[in-house]
Amino acid sequence: MLKGWPLVMVLFAVVQASEINCNGNVAIKNSEDAKNVRENCKTIAGNLDLDIFETCNLDGLEEVRGDVVHRCPTKQQGLDYCMDASTTFTISSSTLRIINGSLDFFYYRGVEKLDFPQLNKVRQDISLYAPYNLTHVNFANLEYFGSFLLNTPSLMQLQLDKFKEFTSREVLKPDGTTSGPYVNIWNTGRLESFNEFFQNPVNPYNVYDNGASNSFVIFYPLTVQNLTFGWTRMPSMEIEAKSQLTLTLGGPETEEMEFEGTLQIGAGVTAINRHESLKNLTVQRFDLKQSAVVDLDLPFNQVTTVVVYGNPQLRQLRLPSTAQSWKNLDLNIGSSDNLLLSPVKDGSDETIWHWPTGDMSSVVIRANITADFL
Ligand SMILES: *[C@@H]1O[C@H](CO)[C@@H](O)[C@H](O)[C@H]1NC(C)=O
Ligand SMILES: *[C@@H]1O[C@H](CO)[C@@H](O)[C@H](O)[C@H]1NC(C)=O
Ligand SMILES: *[C@@H]1O[C@H](CO)[C@@H](O)[C@H](O)[C@H]1NC(C)=O
Ligand SMILES: *[C@@H]1O[C@H](CO)[C@@H](O)[C@H](O)[C@H]1NC(C)=O
Ligand SMILES: *[C@@H]1O[C@H](CO)[C@@H](O)[C@H](O)[C@H]1NC(C)=O
Repeated sequence: MLKGWPLVMVLFAVVQASEINCNGNVAIKNSEDAKNVRENCKTIAGNLDLDIFETCNLDGLEEVRGDVVHRCPTKQQGLDYCMDASTTFTISSSTLRIINGSLDFFYYRGVEKLDFPQLNKVRQDISLYAPYNLTHVNFANLEYFGSFLLNTPSLMQLQLDKFKEFTSREVLKPDGTTSGPYVNIWNTGRLESFNEFFQNPVNPYNVYDNGASNSFVIFYPLTVQNLTFGWTRMPSMEIEAKSQLTLTLGGPETEEMEFEGTLQIGAGVTAINRHESLKNLTVQRFDLKQSAVVDLDLPFNQVTTVVVYGNPQLRQLRLPSTAQSWKNLDLNIGSSDNLLLSPVKDGSDETIWHWPTGDMSSVVIRANITADFL
């Protein structure tokens, strides 16, 4: 009987090793599983579950047809299980190019680096939700995704500068429901700049209907100092920041930009610039409320409604020469105690206020004006 034991053990090991079946779902729980995937799976036909808490390299894997996920198994083991990572580690693959499902990490504590330099397309959503220790993300070749959610309190570096297009009109959300594409930026951690992600001339209407929901880009108060926004055609967008955000409308390759709804700028935004490459900037309604902007140029080629209200630090407002051709402008200015409206720049004779030459639909101004303003 005793002699039988080693044989049983060997059989057990063999069975373990051959359990990776690239034609179905694959779970990686240890370095042996990772090695098996590296050596045997160019394509995984099902889902890839990452349930590993040590550095895991998947060079060799090129495609996952299902999802790549770490889901905290809250029901079975409680949230503590997911939190239990006493060391930090890296998940990487220098060959993975396509995930036809989602890339979802929920509470994947301990993962410090995600290194997928060849990853080009994630057809469904990318959700990096509360991976508390994640500092570095390399998606340097990512051009297509369905949706994107970022909630990464420790993030220091995000390589994602090639984003081109949303993959489809309908994406499956992590909770099983579907929605149109969305980008939710909740927490960018310690990132200093977020320009690369948003600067390209992405046109969300490539996949969108005109009746698209308005909230497809949501910035919870941003902590970065700069945002260069180069997307070309959008419904509405709201931007707020924790402090001191400079917003640049237009990116280096964006020539036209149009908001079909409201561009709403709120707390924390200190400056709004127009990128020099932008040739046409059209906004249906521009709202500046409770912002920290001091000197505002309204840099539009065409705008229908302008509301500038309750901006305590605002001192100067400019209507550029393009304003002469604004049609049926509805202008509403108020509650900005430091604002003095004047046709010329303070202390010079540079003209900063150009009234529309055609009809305006309404003008309401409650602010101090110089004698020669009207
Ligand atoms: C990828 O997913 C789409 C839709 O979810 C499906 O139609 C397509 O066949 C999938 N492609 C592969 C290679 O699995
Ligand atoms: C992971 O992050 C948590 C919370 O931010 C922190 O307390 C913990 O020390 C980090 N773990 C490691 C191994 O750095
Ligand atoms: C943010 O923008 C400001 C003003 O344009 C610039 O001075 C600063 O260097 C930028 N910071 C970063 C981190 O890009
Ligand atoms: C600017 O863009 C708007 C909206 O797309 C368009 O109606 C207008 O004709 C464009 N103006 C020029 C000069 O191209
Ligand atoms: C606006 O007028 C009020 C009342 O005359 C004055 O107290 C305030 O200093 C003025 N503000 C500016 C910015 O000129």
